[in-house]
Amino acid sequence: MHTNPLARGTWSPARRGLAAAAVFTLVSGLLVGQASQASAAPRVDNPYEGATVYVNPDWAAKATASGGAAIADQPTGVWMDRRAAITGTEGARGLREHLDTAVEQGADLIQIVIYNLPGRDCAALASNGELGPDDIEIYKSEYIDPIVEIMGDPAYAGLRIVNIIEIDSLPNLITNVGSRETATPECDEMLANGNYVEGVGYALAQLGSLENTYNYIDIGHHGWLGWDDNFGPAAELFHEAATAAGATVDDVHGFISNTANYGVLREEFFDADTVVGGRPVREASTFVDWNRYVDELSYAQAYRDELVSVGFNDDIGMLIDTSRNGWGGPDRPTQASTSTDPETFVNESRIDRRIHLGNWCNQSGAGIGERPTASPESGIDAYVWIKPPGESDGASREIQNDEGKGFDRMCDPTYEGNPRNQNNMSGALPDAPLSGHWFEAQFQELLRNAYPPL
Ligand code: BGC
Repeated sequence: MHTNPLARGTWSPARRGLAAAAVFTLVSGLLVGQASQASAAPRVDNPYEGATVYVNPDWAAKATASGGAAIADQPTGVWMDRRAAITGTEGARGLREHLDTAVEQGADLIQIVIYNLPGRDCAALASNGELGPDDIEIYKSEYIDPIVEIMGDPAYAGLRIVNIIEIDSLPNLITNVGSRETATPECDEMLANGNYVEGVGYALAQLGSLENTYNYIDIGHHGWLGWDDNFGPAAELFHEAATAAGATVDDVHGFISNTANYGVLREEFFDADTVVGGRPVREASTFVDWNRYVDELSYAQAYRDELVSVGFNDDIGMLIDTSRNGWGGPDRPTQASTSTDPETFVNESRIDRRIHLGNWCNQSGAGIGERPTASPESGIDAYVWIKPPGESDGASREIQNDEGKGFDRMCDPTYEGNPRNQNNMSGALPDAPLSGHWFEAQFQELLRNAYPPL
């Protein structure tokens, strides 16, 4: 859409009926011939609107086998989390097969996670990647370029390809560097060598050169960038990355919040400005701790305005990952606390039951969140499930592997924390496998604590 402003007015469900994907499903005998002639439809404002979204059969099979038939037909993100994922790994089909299967399904849209930066995940160990801090040329030529080549195949021109760009990278360069107590040497290195910015810019530019791709950049979540010190500076950094390595803001369709995190969509009983005992909870509650936001919806909507104000296009849209932020089950509050003590009020009223907002690994008590939905609220393109429910965030103890995954003690339930979660317990479930691997016990809890309930 951003590259073709005239297209917006011409978009309609009727036109979409003529799009290549629909032709593939209706006239399957002509599939190959049609595919080679297909050219990409113009970008639309909200790619999720009216779209049938690809269901990953590999994830669906695991969900079904684990008693999750009620959600197994939901679309989830396909993670390109190392070079081998492009061609496929044991138990997981490669990118081309996913795209082929999407076309066979008659899907209009597929969600791909671009996640393999040099020095990946510099403030945590559980999802450290395969590339070293200086491997930017490998990232470009052996990771991004092959993905762009596959996505650019005319056979996929009828698919809208949503790319989730490099989660947990740029936010780390704001909060976990320099003189901050939360700094890590690895994040300082990635800030100094510029390879996150260069890599994100390159990914945006190359993926954005295809007409049917929709790039969404990660903005962390409200419990990460919701503080004033982080919010504005991060927006500036996103703009810097979106104008690096040949990218322009026209390569950015929008932004995504809460990817693979647990931030609640809506705190129903208070916001940061709610006054309890004469003081706003923003300043009087340790849990809120001066954050401007207490939930993901208000955060994403406010960030949209901020991003437009720093130079992104005014028709950007936001996504929120709601795969595991439901917080249902018997412990979910059903009304606001009547306490006049701000600490007690927030702790009795809050739907997000985490010990601390900095906790991110396999959170105990979480549930499946809102089902994927297009255009649920103003400024929001969709609620999406980018983190596939049931896949671990990280191992709770050291496990040898060849996937570049480390052991992060934030995934160990006995860990007493670090400055990034203000030295609280990790809140992680025990006995977790490596990140990305199936975690049966977590999946069962997510089903039980789903909200809305299943
Ligand atoms: C892991 C990836 C995995 C993804 C989805 C990430 O934490 O590092 O390997 O594909 O989660 O489960």
